[in-house]
Amino acid sequence: MNKHPIHDFQYKNGELYCEGVKVSAVAKKTGTPVYIYSHKTLVEHVEKIREAFREVNPIICYAMKANSNLAVLKTLVSAGTGFDIVSLGELKKAGMVGADMKKVVFASVGKTDEEIMEAIKAGILLFNVESKPELLNIERIAGKMKKKVRVALRINPDIDAPTHEKINTGSLKKKFGIDLCTARELFVGQKAFRNLTLNGVHIHIGSQITKAEPFMVAIEKALAFIDELEQDGVRIEYFNIGGGLGIIYKDETPQTAAAYAKKILPLLKGRKFRLIMEPGRFIAGNAGVFVTKVLYLKDNGVKKFLIVDGGMNDLVRPSMYEAYHEIVPVRKTAARPVELDVVGPICESGDTFAKARRLPQMKSGEFLAILSAGAYGYAMASNYNVRGRAAEVLVKGNKWAVVQERETFKDLVRGAKVPGFLR
Ligand code: LLP
Repeated sequence: MNKHPIHDFQYKNGELYCEGVKVSAVAKKTGTPVYIYSHKTLVEHVEKIREAFREVNPIICYAMKANSNLAVLKTLVSAGTGFDIVSLGELKKAGMVGADMKKVVFASVGKTDEEIMEAIKAGILLFNVESKPELLNIERIAGKMKKKVRVALRINPDIDAPTHEKINTGSLKKKFGIDLCTARELFVGQKAFRNLTLNGVHIHIGSQITKAEPFMVAIEKALAFIDELEQDGVRIEYFNIGGGLGIIYKDETPQTAAAYAKKILPLLKGRKFRLIMEPGRFIAGNAGVFVTKVLYLKDNGVKKFLIVDGGMNDLVRPSMYEAYHEIVPVRKTAARPVELDVVGPICESGDTFAKARRLPQMKSGEFLAILSAGAYGYAMASNYNVRGRAAEVLVKGNKWAVVQERETFKDLVRGAKVPGFLR
């Protein structure tokens, strides 16, 4: 069988494989639910971006929030990426996998003093600052630490990119970034900040954006802003165009990395700054599947429900964003397709992976794979309903390993206490 164009999950003799490994064999060994990631897909997606943007040699800061499994991060560090981080936890994970801190940028609208201090200590490349009070706080902390700190201002280009309302970040109705007027004042008045160098501009307009146009509009706006700054004598050394590249979940036809580059690169001609990119979903999304087991088939006379052992606590995207994820049987079956809802065991109607989906009639004990679950899958998992989070597996060629153990009940009650006054 030919390789799938976007990932390394494919059928051989009716069995779903991840690279050279049979998905059902992994699921039987680890139990379900389980996330399975392909090393090859991860690396190939980094390469696609690097290749497309080769002429400007960007710093690729993988947005760790999409999937921060340590083995995934290690894979990406080896493939040469840095990281876009948003918390102390993410900073520490970057350290654990030996990231080059000169390729680490730190976004977040609410950085705490501790996070700022630790990131200064670690020597990250840039803070992506999201408000004036945050900038003043970094100036204060850097002063106390006697350090000079590099800063990019995340500007809000006031753009309404076409994507789900909850992941659209580029307009002034949202909490992100600094309005252009304030940002300009801060850049121009930067002599007032003795411990900061304001030499970067950052934008990120949202996620799962499938067309180049919104990016182009935002980038053009940012470039016009950079031109104004240069007229004011401010030198911009880093331009960070964020993440947001959309992927195929269903029938989207997102721009490829090459097509994206073809639209973006001409806009950057002749510019001296270093380009930074923060792809998350593009790298991890199609590199992972979520495997779950059929528990029961229920028919209430009106509807059929396929009840599986994974729930919205494991993969929240369908309930949170009405997101579509392809669902396939791990072993192909000749059984006749039926229309049903694929649901988890959790006590909410929102715990639904698919509505009115045509799937072959499956029996309890059989495995299903929910595709394109590598980004914002495990990363957003919770313990709702006192359910331990799933295991995670990384496949490389014919090898595979559990890279995150399934949580046990002991993990779930660690730190919980019933105080004496209740006795
Ligand atoms: N840079 C910044 C500053 C971001 O906030 C994000 C994502 C990224 C980069 C990476 O964006 P990506 O390339 O992955 O689109 N949980 C949602 C997505 C939330 C995105 C948050 N920020 C989902 O499951 O669709």
